[in-house]
Amino acid sequence: MLPKLTTHIPGPRSLALSQDLKKYECRNVTYTADDWPVFWQRAEGVNVWDADGNRFLDVTAAFGVAGLGHGWSAEFMREQSGQMIHGMGDVHPTALKVDVCRKLSAMTFERWGHGIGKTILSNSGSEAVESALKTALMATGKSGVVSFKNSYHGLGYGALLGSGFDKFRKPFESQLAPLRKVLDFPADAEDGLIRLAMQLKELNPEEIGALIVEPIQGRAGKLVPPLGLLGMLRSWCDVSNVVLIFDEIFTGFNRSGKLFACEWESIVPDIICVGKSMSGGYPISACVGKSDVMDAWPESTGEALHTSTFLGNPVGCAMASASLDAHAEDHVAEKVQATGDKLIAELNKIDHPLIHEIRGRGLMIGVELRHDDGTPAGDVAGAVLSDMLRRGVIMLADGEAGNVLAFTPPFDLSDEEIEFLAHQLWNAISSAIYQLAGK
Ligand SMILES: Cc1ncc(COP(=O)(O)O)c(C=O)c1O
Repeated sequence: MLPKLTTHIPGPRSLALSQDLKKYECRNVTYTADDWPVFWQRAEGVNVWDADGNRFLDVTAAFGVAGLGHGWSAEFMREQSGQMIHGMGDVHPTALKVDVCRKLSAMTFERWGHGIGKTILSNSGSEAVESALKTALMATGKSGVVSFKNSYHGLGYGALLGSGFDKFRKPFESQLAPLRKVLDFPADAEDGLIRLAMQLKELNPEEIGALIVEPIQGRAGKLVPPLGLLGMLRSWCDVSNVVLIFDEIFTGFNRSGKLFACEWESIVPDIICVGKSMSGGYPISACVGKSDVMDAWPESTGEALHTSTFLGNPVGCAMASASLDAHAEDHVAEKVQATGDKLIAELNKIDHPLIHEIRGRGLMIGVELRHDDGTPAGDVAGAVLSDMLRRGVIMLADGEAGNVLAFTPPFDLSDEEIEFLAHQLWNAISSAIYQLAGK
């Protein structure tokens, strides 16, 4: 449904809640200002209602989680929570955990013709990445980690080791292990891939156990690499005895228009990390690897080396089990591709000098804004986000300079909503420029 606003944005209730939150939450967590945020109260499909009763159109799918639509898995949560909401995941597990691990294997390594995939479940994307990095050390005995500039893998310490975003890693660098190499993420097939091949040659495989990559960089600004990147990494990892990890926490489960983004290049990793859309809203994630790699872990003797209290939570597993079934249906990827094509076509109609590039795959789309002199227009993007919020659209921006407007909506976006979005975006960019010029 299109937005329906009945108060100023943010409304009085949101503004009052902001004041309260500022008193009690660590000030680093939630950004609050006169024009941001709105406090969410209810969500369904592509819509969110705030505490003041305003209805918004959400083009973030709440960080990419609600691909199947807000509330899609709520009935599975209700049903399971009526029976049991918490168990002992790594001691006395549930049948649901077996179900989820079996389905993840079937959707990944078995489907790709590489035998059974084995899983470590966890609660957040960052934890799934940490499981993968620990597995790589177990499997190779080598602790070094290679990642890409501006890659985002989460903010836990292990995940920060793979992070290519200086702003997130630098404040904590003194507590991180030093052996870490960062490569340039290739933007084009010729120069980018050639430079990368040279960078790979300079690495010492003796000290590197893991190479982690997002098949499409999300937080970096929806950067789609040239075909050939994943194949090049696969070959280098094979000859170097390095575990190849695909972080598909954002791209996974049809977001890119294929079940997994690595399928655009038909390259199979040793480990895939998934999360976000896996359950449609419950914090659950997974590190799934080829059997021989995962079997580098010793058999449990009753004390798992890597686990957590909520691992395999039954509510999360019930929601994930239903979501995995839905994602496995071929028509979902087809729908995402078709909707993404339509969205890109409408965005392309916006003829604005500030738009430097519109790019993406499926429903993972970025609109990069740059000033005349080529500098990133993060200032304009920031003003556009607030303006779009006042127009009833929930949006975020990506990229190191925050200058890439991000479109990662729930999959079921109608043509009318897409046309509305493009029209509002055109207006918002134009008015942001006037607003900034007047400052
Ligand atoms: C590619 C990627 N990896 C890992 C993460 C971290 O996931 P979480 O925030 O659940 O820890 C994210 C989150 O945005 C992500 O986009």
